[in-house]
Amino acid sequence: MLVTAKEMLIKARDGKYAVGQFNINNLEWTKAVLLTAQELNSPVILGVSEGAGKYMCGYRTVVGMVNGMLKELNITIPVALHLDHGSFEGAKACINAGFSSIMFDGSHYPIAENIAKTTALVNTCDILGISLEAEVGSIGGEEDGVIGMGECADPTECKMIADLGVTMLAAGIGNIHGKYPANWKGLSFETLAAVKEKVGDMPLVLHGGTGIPADMIKKAISLGVAKINVNTECQLSFAAATRKYIEEGKDNQGKGYDPRKLLAPGFEAIKATVKEKMELFGSVNKA
Ligand code: 13P
Repeated sequence: MLVTAKEMLIKARDGKYAVGQFNINNLEWTKAVLLTAQELNSPVILGVSEGAGKYMCGYRTVVGMVNGMLKELNITIPVALHLDHGSFEGAKACINAGFSSIMFDGSHYPIAENIAKTTALVNTCDILGISLEAEVGSIGGEEDGVIGMGECADPTECKMIADLGVTMLAAGIGNIHGKYPANWKGLSFETLAAVKEKVGDMPLVLHGGTGIPADMIKKAISLGVAKINVNTECQLSFAAATRKYIEEGKDNQGKGYDPRKLLAPGFEAIKATVKEKMELFGSVNKA
């Protein structure tokens, strides 16, 4: 059964580790993330962007697939199904479809509008027992055609949003989605510490987990980050493994073209990446 992300993040915050949010793109992705989490006895959050939701034939299809897998694969660790960077409309659609966690990304609105829209969702999610993530200060990079500049959030605005009663807060601290450019200055721990001081116990979310060096991840966790999002890194390992299989001509050997064979190396590569991240985040055996 899907659960809200609330309890797992409170446990993570108190235990000084982070729960990984791994974005899913299809059946292989979902199965790879769930099986790895179960093998490592780790809580996990499945992230679904609006674009990925559309690609997977809508939020109801995603909910059906995930719920089916939880039963058929005997998944017993805590699993939250979370909308990633949702619009207000997307958030409503996911709530109706059966998601157990929502991110409303109002970071591109003026703060008053971000507050108004987040407030409406706080009340709804509260009644339904769904966890809610809000964002202040847009995360850089490109995701589903939305380009952010990697701002550092204003700690006072973070407090205004945290005080609305959201479950967790994503604050921009110079992080970006996708690969980090060679001239990236690194995470702003100054901003993170200032946000933490304002928002107190609120579990913080670090987006753009791909390519952040291990020491920065550990420092971020020590400063209150309890959820870390990873998407691109699984895509890169899946693509590299699939490329290798085809370049070695394996799709032309026997029935190597069968999707169950063709996609197997990529599936194993996602599992390896998820394992590496869960070990780094410290969530192994925390289910
Ligand atoms: P990456 O694609 O950089 O790992 O970021 C994922 C993310 O933050 C999803 O919200």
